[in-house]
Amino acid sequence: MHQRVQVAIIGAGPSGLLLGALLDRAGIDHVLIERQSPEYVLSRIRAGVLEQGTVDVLDQLGLSIRLHREGLVHHGFDLLFEGKRHRIDLQALTRGKQVVVYGQTEVTKDLMDDRASKGLSSYYEVEGLSIQGLDADQVEINAIYQGAPLRIHADLVAGCDGFHGLCRKLIPESVLRTYEKVYPFGWLGVLADVKPVSDELIYVNSPKGFALCSMRSTTRSRYYLQVPANEDITAWSDDRFWSVLSDRLDPQAAKELMTGPSIEKSIAPLRSFVAEPMRWGRLLLAGDAAHIVPPTGAKGLNLAVSDVRYLAEALTAWFKDHHDKHLDRYSQRCLKRVWRAERFSWWFTSLMHRFADDADFEQKIQEAELDYLVRSQAASSALAENYVGLPMEWS
Ligand code: APR
Ligand code: PHB
Repeated sequence: MHQRVQVAIIGAGPSGLLLGALLDRAGIDHVLIERQSPEYVLSRIRAGVLEQGTVDVLDQLGLSIRLHREGLVHHGFDLLFEGKRHRIDLQALTRGKQVVVYGQTEVTKDLMDDRASKGLSSYYEVEGLSIQGLDADQVEINAIYQGAPLRIHADLVAGCDGFHGLCRKLIPESVLRTYEKVYPFGWLGVLADVKPVSDELIYVNSPKGFALCSMRSTTRSRYYLQVPANEDITAWSDDRFWSVLSDRLDPQAAKELMTGPSIEKSIAPLRSFVAEPMRWGRLLLAGDAAHIVPPTGAKGLNLAVSDVRYLAEALTAWFKDHHDKHLDRYSQRCLKRVWRAERFSWWFTSLMHRFADDADFEQKIQEAELDYLVRSQAASSALAENYVGLPMEWS
């Protein structure tokens, strides 16, 4: 099979799917190429806190009907430290801003359904992908699809294939600069069909380690515990999980915590990572392919959305006059916003986690900073402003 398109999108996670929707509305023809099946893509559980800017993009695309019906609007969250909860009033601190709790899986599903209803070209379960000509006049992509060769010619390639994808690795070592920080712990996550312990999220700093009480709906909870980086998941029965979580909560939350069988349990490593530049020749990276944030503060998906919004604008401008300045500007614009979110996610992670068993000094410093955060309006406004998302226009 052979196809010629303006843009080939590699990867059907949120970045690739959203870019497809934006390009479709801009009248730019494209294909979407994914290694996994749609069912596999939908089975991955990821964070679920959407910034207003993310909701705005989905609103503009007309893809937010279910989000507004099923998503939970949150006007604040709690910080729990030294055994007490303190509310961060997002709405009061940011002049009316809020976030929406709606799982990334649901965003992905809404985007997939839109694509299917419009009959847009998608190839799932593609094997043996290779990409040539990124530094030439035309790109050629070869792969195997349903047992037969697939060949695609494109003007530009959007590398939306995640952290472990192929695209970033196509940028020559002499050009690519990477920045990385790996944390000495991971998050053990449990999904359970029990009522959330609170109406809002609770971020917990305790001498025994971080915990997070989140949710997917009013009847489905998502909880996390900080665990050592090389933790063996088989050592975590549901009973052990609930008992360790309860131990990190305040007495009232511990009493009200509803427990039940887990429907998903997994450990995610924590990493900060940025690759620069996000453009090389005819390749443009977006989302996790270019950067990773640790999940504290849930910036990963929101950052992917702002990348893709800037990318759709850059591609639209490029197809009008073929001026490379639009593509270079894309990378510069994204990286400004990326580093702001990297800083916030690193800071929030550093503030909330236990870094070593003997780090009592650091624990005291964290508690002093948290106390300052909840008492000083300047400090809590800075937290709130970042949590609801810095303006996309700043980039
Ligand atoms: N060929 C085709 N597809 C590939 C290849 C390849 N060689 N390698 C990876 N992929 C696909 C993966 O199977 C995955 O579906 O690319 C997709 C990348 O999706 P994500 O990892 O979800 O990355 P992204 O779309 O940038 O999403 C960013 O989602 O992953 C979370 O935490 C992340 O919230 C952030 C957001
Ligand atoms: C989640 O619900 O999975 C979640 C929420 C907030 C975070 C991280 C993850 O900061």
